[in-house]
Amino acid sequence: MSEEPPFPHIAFVSPPDGTSNGPPRKRARAGRILAAVIGIAAVPGLSGAPVGAQTAARVLTEPPVLEDLADDPAVVEVELTAGPARLSLLEGTKTDVYAYNGSVPGPTLEVREGDSVVVRFRNDLAEPTTIHWHGLHLPFRADGSPFHPIGPGEEYVYTFRIPEGTAGTYWYHPHPDHRTTWQIGKGLFGALIVRDPDDPLPGSLRERLLVLSDNRFRADGSLDFPEPGTRQARIDEENGREGDVLFVNGQVLPTVRIRAGEVQRWRVINASGARVYRLALPGHTFLHVGSDGGLFERPVERQEVLLANTERVELLVRGGAEPGSRIVLQDLPYDRYRPLTRPDDWDETRRLLTLAYGDESPMEAPAIPDRLRPVPPMDPSEATATRVMRLSQGRINGKLMDMDRVDVSASLGETEIWEIRNLVGMDHPFHLHGFRFQVLSRNGEPVPYRSWKDTVNVPKRETVRFIVRYDDYRGKWMFHCHIVDHEDQGMMGILEVR
Ligand code: C2O
Ligand code: CU
Ligand code: CU
Repeated sequence: MSEEPPFPHIAFVSPPDGTSNGPPRKRARAGRILAAVIGIAAVPGLSGAPVGAQTAARVLTEPPVLEDLADDPAVVEVELTAGPARLSLLEGTKTDVYAYNGSVPGPTLEVREGDSVVVRFRNDLAEPTTIHWHGLHLPFRADGSPFHPIGPGEEYVYTFRIPEGTAGTYWYHPHPDHRTTWQIGKGLFGALIVRDPDDPLPGSLRERLLVLSDNRFRADGSLDFPEPGTRQARIDEENGREGDVLFVNGQVLPTVRIRAGEVQRWRVINASGARVYRLALPGHTFLHVGSDGGLFERPVERQEVLLANTERVELLVRGGAEPGSRIVLQDLPYDRYRPLTRPDDWDETRRLLTLAYGDESPMEAPAIPDRLRPVPPMDPSEATATRVMRLSQGRINGKLMDMDRVDVSASLGETEIWEIRNLVGMDHPFHLHGFRFQVLSRNGEPVPYRSWKDTVNVPKRETVRFIVRYDDYRGKWMFHCHIVDHEDQGMMGILEVR
């Protein structure tokens, strides 16, 4: 273990303890520009390593927030570059990665409902890429799908407007044809937060962004992608590539501070290519207040929360333990696998971060509203079609993705029901670009509460129905399994809205 002090070269935009909070208006520009400097918290050990004193001392940090270069308060204009970088992901080693503005995770894009967003993007990689704004409702040309690759050395300006009512936690990632697993695995992913000027939750709640990712390393610190044709390559094709090192904002087992009685608002993003997280905090229940597309109508008490690939949750964590307590946020075992390729250690509980209570006496808990915002129900009687998608291993309705084929064609403004039937013994998280939806039922049972989603996990041999309306934007929109290896293999189709 090296004697390097924690975070040797890092200056933070948000205070290390994450004390920034609340829906910020335009932030002062100074202080937002450190995107390029952030390395990654270097912590020894794999996810199963004991919690050493050094590990425990590392306080969770958040990615830098992109500097807004626009003078117009209704416009957010930012610069993003994807390029190679050499960073310390694990202590004592350097890793060749791809990074947005030199940082993994990439810098956070923060916008408000109603903002016009201008992203000046440059591809400094030696291969084509795109930026997909996962979960956002935007014009086809801004979707960053495989239809619009950006070649090496090229620039592209993504422009879109953030609709009202879409405040929530999103993320951005590359979406090039067949190369998404590789590019996300190499480090290209970042958070995107849409804020509501009238957010119903108290602005006094301390907010934390938790970007979950995992990776696999060789002894020399390089990223471990298997050689094609090997046994590991076949297992990865089947399961999706999982790593044994779990990161929160690029840190291994960081510490989050809380005061007894305090309530914190956590925005959690599953940016892993294949790993599904089953979150639990022993001795605590979560108040689950939101998912992919923002807040629910009312909070829901949860013992644990399952977070499939690309899903997001907003959780209120209530500091109910004694001052001085230390509690580990766990990733409990979840069997999403087929028996043949299920990893031997699938049933191990993994650790994500330590919640460390200060010694101060408990504070008075803030009041949490029991009504958050309306999520108006979509009406199934308005649906003009039901689209059935049969998922098998790597295919949808028996087909591989074909960029020249349209799988579903529909008219602008139409409402449809999609029925996703998983025919196989492995979970597949199903994602639709461009349009958010409401899940209606699972295996014929109505879901207990409404929420806006862009991805829904379809467990082994289960059927999920959702309802969607194709508002505003024509174009060709991908739908696919969000285990990115499956997406790359062609477990994807195209919806054309005309
Ligand atoms: Cu995260 Cu096709 O998307
Ligand atoms: Cu998407
Ligand atoms: Cu899949």
